Amino acid sequence: MTSLGGLLRRVLRTLLLGQSQIVLHSRVPCLQDRLDGIEELGLYLHIPFCRQICLYCPYNKELYRPGVASEYVRAVKREIDSYSPLLGQTPITSFYIGGGTPTTMLHSGLGEILEHVFRTFNIQCGIHMESHPNDLSQENLDVITSLGVEHLSLGVEALQDRHLRTLGRPYSAAQAREAVERATAAGFECVNADMIFALPGQTLNEVEQTGRELVELGVDQVAAYPLFTFPYTQLGRGSQADRSNNTGVLRRRKMLRVLERIFYAAGYERTSVWAFTRPGVAKYCSVTVPLYLGLGASAGSYLRDVFYLNTFQVSEYIQSLKQGRIPIALSLELSEPMQMAGWLYWRIYETRFKKSDFGKRFGRPFDAIYGRYFRPLSWLGLLSDDGDEVVLSPEGAYWLHVLEDLFSLQYVGQLWGVSQREPWPERVAL
Ligand SMILES: C[S@@+](CC[C@H](N)C(=O)[O-])C[C@H]1O[C@@H](n2cnc3c(N)ncnc32)[C@H](O)[C@@H]1O
Ligand code: SF4
Repeated sequence: MTSLGGLLRRVLRTLLLGQSQIVLHSRVPCLQDRLDGIEELGLYLHIPFCRQICLYCPYNKELYRPGVASEYVRAVKREIDSYSPLLGQTPITSFYIGGGTPTTMLHSGLGEILEHVFRTFNIQCGIHMESHPNDLSQENLDVITSLGVEHLSLGVEALQDRHLRTLGRPYSAAQAREAVERATAAGFECVNADMIFALPGQTLNEVEQTGRELVELGVDQVAAYPLFTFPYTQLGRGSQADRSNNTGVLRRRKMLRVLERIFYAAGYERTSVWAFTRPGVAKYCSVTVPLYLGLGASAGSYLRDVFYLNTFQVSEYIQSLKQGRIPIALSLELSEPMQMAGWLYWRIYETRFKKSDFGKRFGRPFDAIYGRYFRPLSWLGLLSDDGDEVVLSPEGAYWLHVLEDLFSLQYVGQLWGVSQREPWPERVAL
């Protein structure tokens, strides 16, 4: 039986993309053709290891084991070598290391991978990297800065012991505060703290307390996400059985409003639906340029008219590179309407965009494609439109993102769910 969400997704896919299904196949695209003529690229590196597995986490990761980590280093270096002749001197203008937990490999090969990246590619930017509070001793922070990391994020998540316990985070609120203090004193261009709200039983006061404390601790940016429950995670399976702990969409809106008030009063600006950044600070974010190459197990790459994903299974990733095979598991050819919808998705996420940028990218006026959908949103006060710049109001940012979530969470959940079960799926239909 099709759910209401499923029906809406189908209608919108048909309206916006001209197709009722999106299908990824096991085909490996010819990369030389796709890379020709690209003027700049972003780079993403995935480190799929963590010291413990959190119940709610949708990302591709496994428990850290030193032996596997050292094989992973060799595999990533082989993958880098395979791209070297294709990329030549193409400038890399954005570099993001995510996970999992990249800091698990601080003393077991992360530096070796980065040296190889810098030796092989034409890197013209600093590094943005995710970290875990437990890994941020002063000694480790010194190593992180010496690797060239300029923007650091740490997963604080909550500043009340009871919520940290519910989330299964292996530190106390006091230890998280100390890690933030050390990070903000370490001289990074931007320190971002992640927090999760809409936790089971969380009060508005607790959300407020966490937001205020992060500002007082001096972080440059806060990324505040509502707790997403992906069906294939342990938390997702539990919440399907017991819905009493799920926070409704209106209460989540109320919590986000509490946070907006705190961050705006402290002078932070909204830089995405969920992120607030001090003015004058270059925001911490994932890859910042439209086209990027992903390295590592489960890394995705987006090369203008194709999107592809590496196999999620670390052992398969290592094995295929050992045998000289490309670790790509799934790819998706992107029609022009898909490229346009992808462009718009990220602009809505950033809460502002210029219609003229759409014109430059696609050679067609924005209003000719999307004007009929955006005009009513402007009448409803969900966005302002001065003829070129479109800025979403806080209400617009929230509700448009709820709508986007209907797609992205479903798609990510389905795609990652299948990819975590099967290393080489034949096809995945979204
Ligand atoms: C890869 S983790 C950050 C680095 C490190 N692994 C850690 O946990 O500290 C990325 C961030 O995604 C957010 N996150 C993960 N699972 C989430 C979920 N189910 N709902 C909302 N946010 C989530 C958390 O804020 C987390 O800090
Ligand atoms: S939230 Fe972070 S530490 Fe926890 S399992 Fe996910 S990636 Fe690992």
